[in-house]
Order: sequence, then structure tokens, then C-alpha cells
Amino acid sequence: MKMKHFTRLLSLFFILITSFSLANSTIVSHDERAITINGKRRILLSGSIHYPRSTADMWPDLINKAKDGGLDAIETYVFWNAHEPKRREYDFSGNLDVVRFIKTIQDAGLYSVLRIGPYVCAEWNYGGFPVWLHNMPNMKFRTINPSFMNEMQNFTTKIVEMMKEEKLFASQGGPIILAQIENEYGNVISSYGAEGKAYIDWCANMANSLDIGVPWLMCQQPNAPQPMLETCNGFYCDQYEPTNPSTPKMWTENWTGWFKNWGGKHPYRTAEDLAFSVARFFQTGGTFQNYYMYHGGTNFGRVAGGPYITTSYDYHAPIDEFGNLNQPKWGHLKQLHTVLKSMEKSLTYGNISRIDLGNSIKATIYTTNEGSSCFIGNVNATANALVNFKGKDYHVPAWSVSVLPDCDKEAYNTAKVNTQTSIMTEDSSKPEMLEWSWKPESAQKMILKGSGDLIAKGLVDQKDVTNDASDYLWYMTRVHLDKKDPLWSRNMTLRVHSNAHVLHAYVNGKYVGNQFVKDGKFDYRFEKKVNHLVHGTNHISLLSVSVGLQNYGAFFESGPTGINGPVSLVGYKGEETIEKDLSQHQWDYKIGLNGYNNKLFSTKSVGHLRWANEKFPTGRMLTWYKAKFKAPLGKEPVIVDFNGLGKGEAWINGQSIGRYWPSFNSSDDGCKDECDYRGEYGSDKCAFMCGEPTQRWYHVPRSFLNASGHNTITLFEEMGGNPSNVNFKTVVVGTVCARAHEHNKVELSCHNRPISAVKFASFGNPVGHCGTFAVGTCQGDKDAVKTVAKECVGKLNCTINVSSDTFGSTLDCGDSPKKLAVELEC
Ligand code: GAL
Repeated sequence: MKMKHFTRLLSLFFILITSFSLANSTIVSHDERAITINGKRRILLSGSIHYPRSTADMWPDLINKAKDGGLDAIETYVFWNAHEPKRREYDFSGNLDVVRFIKTIQDAGLYSVLRIGPYVCAEWNYGGFPVWLHNMPNMKFRTINPSFMNEMQNFTTKIVEMMKEEKLFASQGGPIILAQIENEYGNVISSYGAEGKAYIDWCANMANSLDIGVPWLMCQQPNAPQPMLETCNGFYCDQYEPTNPSTPKMWTENWTGWFKNWGGKHPYRTAEDLAFSVARFFQTGGTFQNYYMYHGGTNFGRVAGGPYITTSYDYHAPIDEFGNLNQPKWGHLKQLHTVLKSMEKSLTYGNISRIDLGNSIKATIYTTNEGSSCFIGNVNATANALVNFKGKDYHVPAWSVSVLPDCDKEAYNTAKVNTQTSIMTEDSSKPEMLEWSWKPESAQKMILKGSGDLIAKGLVDQKDVTNDASDYLWYMTRVHLDKKDPLWSRNMTLRVHSNAHVLHAYVNGKYVGNQFVKDGKFDYRFEKKVNHLVHGTNHISLLSVSVGLQNYGAFFESGPTGINGPVSLVGYKGEETIEKDLSQHQWDYKIGLNGYNNKLFSTKSVGHLRWANEKFPTGRMLTWYKAKFKAPLGKEPVIVDFNGLGKGEAWINGQSIGRYWPSFNSSDDGCKDECDYRGEYGSDKCAFMCGEPTQRWYHVPRSFLNASGHNTITLFEEMGGNPSNVNFKTVVVGTVCARAHEHNKVELSCHNRPISAVKFASFGNPVGHCGTFAVGTCQGDKDAVKTVAKECVGKLNCTINVSSDTFGSTLDCGDSPKKLAVELEC
């Protein structure tokens, strides 16, 4: 072939290749109104699922449930400290396989939003930053600091390159339509002075230079440097307007509930209020909305941040920690999504007009040539409204939005829930009695002799020394007291000024006591009597325990951890106080505990050390326990009951299921029997489980279990507890309730199990709640229990038409809207 022909052929080939890849790529852009995909404005409904807070085998099911719930996209952060545990040593294996996660999203036909950060907050240990980063010389996070910027750029580029290589950006035909750099820097920027602005400009330039072909977001960043798009985070974002008029109104975090702290209550955000916030957002011109979290999941291992974030990160999200639908939240939102999607065209292209109907009631009309869609919002916290709109009457309850896709008929109201409530419970099987063997943590060397691996003058910051390789750091010193020491008195104490999340103190081998943080006071004084000091050398051994590193706030990385002192012995002589400050002494340090260093939790390396089988001790501190167990059969999620244990960490077949602390109860007050969700939500509102263990049940992912049925659980009990009641269960739907409005259909199901009985059913004006339902003053003349039983019992699911056709006439009920209340047993 002649050279000329060959070149022509070659260029033709290239044209073909480029047009092929162009045909496959998706152009994601934006205008003032919305994110546009291939030139079309879109309503985008998205939800956060964090890949390492579940296990890879759970991903397809979680993502499908999100898709089935009406979402278009899945959002995740990328967790730097999990991926780069040591500088330039990366881990993307197993549950950290972020590429596989994005591909699973793609396989489900959904888009993805990749929030690289790499600062993520997220109640994740240290906000996602590796602790080695903090321990680099001249380091300062999130500001103009060459070392920091270099590392941030390195990691961000690495992630972008990984995604590009797999063609995962929409511009390459992949699912990622949006990416995020930084996270809520706008909340703290003022603390960084002029450097804050320079830093965020640098972030924007750096991100932009990575050329990903889809827009970058900066959440909570008013006036974000172009072309970054600012977005809103919060419980409500209807009042938010982007500073830049050419940026669409976007909501990256609609908090579906809240996280939980050790000692805190169970957060609860109702389906009604969450749906209200979403409908309000779309009523006021929003077009992209992401649920944070859609599935919260579990803080396995030591990934929980805080300090004091619990192992469960359930978040009261639409999918619960274990992967079950959280009903009615999931279903109530799903219905809203369907209605909003049907209005996509008018919401994104329509002309907007607003009518103020007085008393905090507003209607919004979106009109295109083809038709119009309407919202009627009642922001009043108590007053229900009967609204006359376009010649028709609508009943709009307080704190609700009615959605009328054709402006003529209410298709949805956020306060009218027609989805079942599922009450989850543990299966009723008889618990297996476990046979425990045990072993003390060998801490004698530290407790009696005070000898460690490191020596320093003075007290050190915990994370500076441990690099967060362990929760535990021993601080040990000696003090010589001769007979004449002025300290001697009848009343002597050890006083420790501490930032340790938990502190255990020993003097001369004897336990003096512990202290931990209550009511969020992380900076406290420990003071306990010591009446066993001796003439001569005295050993003081303090064990500092961390429970998740801080993840939020300006300069959070340099907040103190561990025992910062002063540490002193105090003698009280009448009016006089004599204090002997030990802070500047020579201190010995030991990182971690021996049992951890010897991997007592591992299934492989325990053989050489004897575990005792004799009657195991209870209430014993620093103790290892292990037992064999059979895993519950089936597919339902597995949970383990830790009632009776103190505090520590647990492993299943060598894999950590997280820290446990069931002995820490939440405070008694602040929970009400009735939850009136109307009015602004806050994380304390409608909380429940006051005075109960913060977390009693812990998730055991099925993939941690052996199919053979032979499994081992290992516990490290730090505070002392009784493992005899530890038992494994599955979590299933126990009861299903619904309170549906007339002219609706209600779907009922026990998820994967048949409905076994109807406990209650009445159509009319039934009263009470799930569990306490009772017939009201009127009801349909057909036997409602029989009617529902005929439709539902023995089936996996059933649909009931809520009408007098089904339940008979309700003459004595008057004109008021009728409801069906049902309670089913699974
Ligand atoms: C936001 C943050 C999230 C998460 C959330 C609370 O401020 O961006 O990462 O921490 O708060 O759950």
C-alpha cells in the first residue's frame, strides 16, 4: 500500500474511533436552572452510600434498593486514610474497592457523584485525613501549606487517574456525572484568614486542571471560585440561593436523620418531615438533591470519627444499617420521587409563578407550553389549611406540601403517609449458649514496672506518638517520695488533666479508677484518692484510650488527644494544698496493647498462647475472650447482642466489627412519647431510646461469616463485662402497620417472609398508633380484619384499596377524610 493511502486510512480510523467514543460519552454541564445531561435539563435525585460502611457483597442489593426507591444517582465520599494508610502505600482491596463500587452503580444503570474531598468530615476518623499526614514536618491542613497541598494533590490526582483509567467519568461514557473537591470549607474559611481564600482558589485550580470533563462541586462554599459549583447542605435548603446566579440550586446533603454519639440518643427524623424538605426544595426551584445518608451503614474497625461516634452509622436513613428498607421512609420518598419525575419537564423548563395564599401558605406554578405543575406548601407549624386553589379545595396539613403534577389533582402530600411502617425485630430462635475461653491482657510490665518502648521528657500528644496505629497509649512515670516530702498527708490524690477519651489510672500496680467523657466535655480533670503511695519509688501508669479522632472544625487536626497534663500528686493538709507536678518528668510510653500486637483476635496466630477454658471471669478489665459459634442460617442480616458487656472491640473470624460500648447509656431525659415533627427539625427532636444502652446490637456482615458454620468471636473487654449473654440473631420484620388515606392503595409486606396474621384493621376514624390502634367512633360496615386477612395472610405481599368499596359504607363517619389502620404480624 502506498504511504499516502495508508495515512488516509489511518486518519479515517482515528475519526471513527473518536466519533465512537464521543457517541458513548455523556456531556454533563449546567445552566442557571439545572444540571444538564446531553443538553437536557434534569431533576436529579441522589443518595449517599459509603462503600466501606458496608461490605462489597452488599453493594448490589443496596444500590438496587436505591434505584427501586426512585434514585438516579449514588453519591460517595472517597476515604483517604483508608486508602493510603501509610504514605504512598495504597489499599483498594475488598470493601475499599472504590472502582468496583462505581462499576456496581454503573451496572445498575445509575449515575454517580464522587466526592473526593479528600477532607470528608463524614463522622469518619480524622475526617478522612491520614494521621501520618499530620505528623509530617511543617504541616498545616486545609490552607496554603506546600506539604499539605502536595499530598492533597497527589491523592486527588491518584483517584481521578484511577477513575479515568476505567473510563468512569460521564465524559468517557462512565457513570460519574459530578465530582467534589474539599467539603464545607465555607463553614470554616474565616478562621484561616486570607490564606483560606487563597487555599480554596488553589483547590479550584487544582481540581480544574485534572480535566475530568464533568462539573466539580464545592459544598457549603458561597461564591465558589469558578467553575466550581457551590451547593447547600442541611436539613432544609429551600431558603438557600446560590450566590452566583448562573449556578443551579443544588443540595448535596439532605440529612435524613443524624449520627449517634456514645452516650447519645437515637436520632429520628420522620418520613413526613424529610419528604416536606424535599418537596419544598423542588417547589422553590431546586433540581439536584442528595440524601445524606440513603444508607448509613456501619463503622467497622476503628473508622468511626467524632470523637465518640458509635459503631452504628444507621443515621435513620431510608435503608437501615443492615440493608433493610426503613419503612415508611423509603416508600414515602419513593412515591414523592415518582411524582417529581413526572414533572421533570415543567420543573426544569417551566416559567415560575408564585401565589401567596396568606398564613404561610404558598402555591408555585411551573408552566410550559405543554402544561403546568403545581405545589401548595403550608409552612405553618401547627395550622392545617383548607386551601382553595384554581377553584378547587385542598386539605393541606400544617408543615406539608401538596404536589399537583397537572395543577388539578393532588398526587401527593408530604404529611399523608400511605406507606407501611415496618417494625424490625430479632428472630425468635433460642440463643446458642457460647463456651468462652479467656486470657488476661498482659499489662503487668506497664502496670507494675512502668516500662515501655519509648522515653520522652514530659507529656506527649497521643496521635503524634501512635500515628493512630492503636486506640491505646500507656503513659508511665516514676516519682520518688522520701519521708520528708511535704506532700505526705492523710488525704492524697492523683490528679490528671486529660483529653483522653477514656483514662485508666494505676498507682503502684493498683487500679485507681477511670474516667470518660460525658456530655461532650472532652477536656476534664480526673482526681482520685491514692492511699498507697510508698516511701521510695512510686509507679504511675496511665492508659489513655482514644475513641475516634475529631472530624470537624477549623484546625481540628491539631486538637489535643491523650493526656496533656498537668499530671500531679496532691496532698491536702487542712487548708493547705500541696501539688507535685509530674508533667515534666521522664515518661515511658508504650503504644498499643500486647494482645493487639500479638493479634489475639486473628484466627491464625492464637495457637501458641494458652487461653483458659475454666470458668471465665466477669467484670474483669483488660481481658480477652473468645468463643466458637454457629452462624444463623439464611440470608437475613446477622446481629450480635452485646448486652452485659462493658467497652471494647469485637472481631468475627479475625475481622473487626467495630468498637462496642453497651454499658454506656444515653441520658434519661429528652425523649417524648409523642413526636410532633411539625416545625423545624433538629438532631435532638423526636429522639428516642433515652436511658438505654447507646448501642446494644452490632452488625455482623454475612461475608465475615464462614459458610461451614464454624465461626469465632473474639472480644477485647477494656472496662469489664459479662459475655454470657452474647448471642447471634437475624434481624427481620416483626410487625407491619399502616395508616392509609382513603382513595389510596396501600401495599403491605413482611419483606421476605409471609404475612402470618392480622392483629387489627379498621376503616373509618381509627385512633392510636402502631401497637395501640383502636376503633374510632365509626367504621365501614364490612369486617375489616376478615377483609384484610383474606387479601394478605399467607402471602409475601398484598395491596389494599383504601375505600368504602373494600370496607363497606361508613355512613356515621360524616364528611371527614377516612383512614385505614392495619397491624399485621409477620
Ligand atoms: C456535614 C458533612 C458531612 C457529615 C454531616 C453530618 O457537615 O459535610 O460529611 O459530617 O455534616 O452527618
